[in-house]
Amino acid sequence: MTMTGPARTILVANQKGGVGKSTTVAAVAEMIATAGKRGRRVLVVDGDPQANVTVEDLGVDGDRGQSLAATLQFGTPLTPVRDVRTHLDVIAGGPQLAVVGAAANTIAENGIDMATNMQTQLQALCDAEGYDVVLIDSGPGDVPLLDTYLSVANYLLIPTRADQASLGGVERLARRFWRARKHGASIQLLGVLLFDVNPRATKRNEEVFAQVNDMLAGSGTSPFDITIRSAPAAAVDMRTLHRTAGELVALAHDERRSRLTRLRDKQRPERALWSSDPTGLAADYQELVRQIVSRLVSYEAAAVGERVG
Ligand SMILES: Nc1ncnc2c1ncn2[C@@H]1O[C@H](COP(=O)(O)OP(=O)(O)O)[C@@H](O)[C@H]1O
Ligand SMILES: [Mg+2]
Repeated sequence: MTMTGPARTILVANQKGGVGKSTTVAAVAEMIATAGKRGRRVLVVDGDPQANVTVEDLGVDGDRGQSLAATLQFGTPLTPVRDVRTHLDVIAGGPQLAVVGAAANTIAENGIDMATNMQTQLQALCDAEGYDVVLIDSGPGDVPLLDTYLSVANYLLIPTRADQASLGGVERLARRFWRARKHGASIQLLGVLLFDVNPRATKRNEEVFAQVNDMLAGSGTSPFDITIRSAPAAAVDMRTLHRTAGELVALAHDERRSRLTRLRDKQRPERALWSSDPTGLAADYQELVRQIVSRLVSYEAAAVGERVG
């Protein structure tokens, strides 16, 4: 599987909080950046005033969203925090974005188009840095910011939990998505991702799949086959240690080794991780990355077909 051509920009959004947006952005970004021999260059844009993916998931201090806020408002160049992991840079999120979101009406009245500003500077940065993939994380609430990201991104990925409030968030976002398309945005729906799923609740999971399928009718896409399993212990480890699902596997492996050594040396083993085995969770994300890449490839082949045909 190969990806060629300009950077593809994937917006991860849901108008409900706590559905796995930030965790998924971090896990997917880190996996794409480190996959294979060379890896690909990845940029995470943290578009959320809460800055969870910047601070909690990736452990980066950042600039409180200053760079992205200035780009949106004044069209100044974006300043990434470089090499937060191999091949992975971040445009930090933070409270400065809330200021811009709140002032969006005034900004628009002054003839400033935040989407054009962001689009132009993102393109310039991608040209200069050679990113293959850009992932935009978003907050649940801020509608002007969300609309801006919807007109900048090429693809939309919607994570959701199975509860009605989260599915309601999917539905509201789907409406904004269609509205953005009607106003000329070229964004395409990459898929819906079920997050924090109990694999044993098969009946309930089937029901949710059917419900999401109904919501997606006419969009040309379906929920991802892979779901992200419920892993509360690993979730605590990821956030407290600022490690993604993939990175937690290596940590757990190291911990097992050191525990054995300490037992052998008749020392009391230390407990550093809550999760005993994050491999399954990391495997879910690995399969998600595979399905994302495969959907990107088929979307792009279709686009080429349209241009040629
Ligand atoms: N696999 C998982 N199972 C259960 N909870 C998880 C899992 N992964 C992450 N979490 C937790 O779910 C919560 C919401 O995740 P988050 O990525 O912050 O959502 P959002 O960005 O949509 O608000 C966080 O507390 C996070 O630690
Ligand atoms: Mg978040």
